[in-house]
Amino acid sequence: ARAGVIVVAAGSGQRLGHGIPKARVLCAGRTLLEHALESVIASGVAGAVVVVLPAGDPVLSAVVAEAALRSVYPTSITAVAGGATRAASVRAGLAALPPTVGVVLVHDAARAITPPAVFQRVAALVSAGASAVIPVLPVVDTIKVVEDGIVTATPDRALLRAVQTPQGFDADALRAAHAGDAAGDATITDDAMLMEASGVPVRVVEGDALAFKVTTPFDLVVAEAVLAAGVA
Ligand code: CTP
Ligand code: MG
Repeated sequence: ARAGVIVVAAGSGQRLGHGIPKARVLCAGRTLLEHALESVIASGVAGAVVVVLPAGDPVLSAVVAEAALRSVYPTSITAVAGGATRAASVRAGLAALPPTVGVVLVHDAARAITPPAVFQRVAALVSAGASAVIPVLPVVDTIKVVEDGIVTATPDRALLRAVQTPQGFDADALRAAHAGDAAGDATITDDAMLMEASGVPVRVVEGDALAFKVTTPFDLVVAEAVLAAGVA
């Protein structure tokens, strides 16, 4: 069965600094949301796609409506309004997914040029029975723990991974985690961390350098250069 895919695109994009929601920012002539939806659809894993938007955004609503018009059975694409935090936006997306969906992928629209193969790797492992799956990459920099300006620890880099999206979950396990005590914890930054807090084992698959998150103006330049070079 195909996965339910929640694309969270309700953030304001403060660090990118364009003064409009990040998903609306143009990259090589198209919005970041259009790029993200193209990867989701091209992966072929998506059944119901729910795009979580800033409330009342006419431009992004039109992007989703356009994608819905072009979508081919069995893929449906709908939009819902997001919340004040990423976690609240994920919960809005979860509530809008058909209750019959067994596998849910949660993806950041800001990871706009994520290769379809990453969706396929994540969806395949969840479909094979894993409760939670995240795409990861090795960490290239040495990472320090710093407290009050002083380095207090250097974790073994071989044990560290940088985490990307889409993150894939058994739908019931994700719903339970989002309904549990940890759901309101502001220090929990992604759905996998919420699953860890619920005691669910989280497995990893190989991520991709192209699944980087467009966060800063530098990242937008990189995404445009990648698209111009035809690498993505
Ligand atoms: N997101 C969301 N709802 C929120 C906050 C974030 O749907 N209330 C989404 C963003 O749209 C983005 C993803 O979560 O696709 C990752 O968040 P981030 O990169 O932090 O995006 P923004 O919050 O928009 O950026 P910033 O933190 O710089 O304002
Ligand atoms: Mg943010």
